[in-house]
Amino acid sequence: MLGQLKNRAYHYPLARLGIIGGGQLGKMLAQKAKQMGLHVTILDPAPHSPAGQVADEQILGGFEDNEKLRALVERCEVTTYDLEHVATAALKILAEEGHRLFPSPHLLEIIQDKLALKDVLATRGLPLPPYQKIERPRVEVFSRFGFPLVQKARFGGYDGRGVVVMRSAADFAHALPVASTIERAVALEKELAVMVARDQAGNIACYPVVEMVFDPRGNLLDLLLVPARLEPSIAARARALAIAAVQALKGVGVFGVELFLSQAGELFVNEIAPRPHNSGHYTIEACVTSQYEQHVRAIIGLPLGDAGLLRPAAMLNLLGEPGFAGKPVVRGLHEALAISGLSFHLYGKAETRPLRKMGHVTILGESIDEVLIKAQKAKALLRMEAEARV
Ligand SMILES: Nc1ncnc2c1ncn2[C@@H]1O[C@H](COP(=O)(O)OP(=O)(O)O)[C@@H](O)[C@H]1O
Ligand SMILES: [Mg+2]
Repeated sequence: MLGQLKNRAYHYPLARLGIIGGGQLGKMLAQKAKQMGLHVTILDPAPHSPAGQVADEQILGGFEDNEKLRALVERCEVTTYDLEHVATAALKILAEEGHRLFPSPHLLEIIQDKLALKDVLATRGLPLPPYQKIERPRVEVFSRFGFPLVQKARFGGYDGRGVVVMRSAADFAHALPVASTIERAVALEKELAVMVARDQAGNIACYPVVEMVFDPRGNLLDLLLVPARLEPSIAARARALAIAAVQALKGVGVFGVELFLSQAGELFVNEIAPRPHNSGHYTIEACVTSQYEQHVRAIIGLPLGDAGLLRPAAMLNLLGEPGFAGKPVVRGLHEALAISGLSFHLYGKAETRPLRKMGHVTILGESIDEVLIKAQKAKALLRMEAEARV
């Protein structure tokens, strides 16, 4: 039995943990779980997945394969996810049978539907950009709502796929032909993210606010800075909002809360990931307790750790270079690792593709200015190419 029990004896392994999905988040989670003495099983369709490489075992199977999901959950004491696109119907049955899955499949189901998530958060009074449900895109409906707007597919989107920003009616030609939401385009001052951990008793550990850095042409640089360069009162509001969002969902585990800060100084919740998040990678080196350890603690019923920041940090995703596909080749590694305070992560994916997340670096420093300069230097040096061009 797992639970928040003091004075109990913990037998090795501390728990049998199942992770649905063998990507980089599952890998870093499995590494932390192994450090803490858990037994880890991964479910992923790809042999030798990044997480499978560091786990005790991997079950080969897809995230919609009910039999494989059952096989995983039944051999583990607690099961979690490295992605949210999984068959929740089968998992809900397993949860009703008494198996422990965190976060709950019911919550996963809400988060899989961008509309359902917005409705829950709006009902709880959390600030969101005004939004509307759309069955199929119609230009009259979009015009009545007003441009600029953002159309989001309700199901299946990630990493910007399934999101279309429309400045005016002329952009309607790019509309996604699926059930969606449309929402007010926020005049962004900054995009922020906050990792929040919540345990089974409702205790909270909240990380500092992270800021995504844009280049002057408005493109996301794949560069994160922490602590975000914000007035302390705005940072405090952002953290309070992120905590309120996770409490509204009664989530158990670690959650990545994406926020918008508008040019008018308003804060909005954008979306919530029910798992460790790309914007929390920095916690491995820069925080007392990493997001991965925090997630393990929350779901096996151990007390949450200190989420405090040790030093200012930057995180840079290493994305597959456009024009290359196939076996990964890293360029500039020797030069980048000469930057002091830089830690390098390569996920172990067998093949790179344009813009695929292949690894990341975290850079620690004494000040935010210092880490920003070092991160820009690392960004200019590091490249993820491949043995073949496309
Ligand atoms: N309402 C909005 N106003 C302005 N920009 C937005 C809005 N919604 C989304 N975006 C932009 O699109 C990006 C992706 O949208 P998001 O909802 O986070 O989808 P994904 O699941 O792909 O991350 C955001 O990070 C932001 O840059
Ligand atoms: Mg997002």
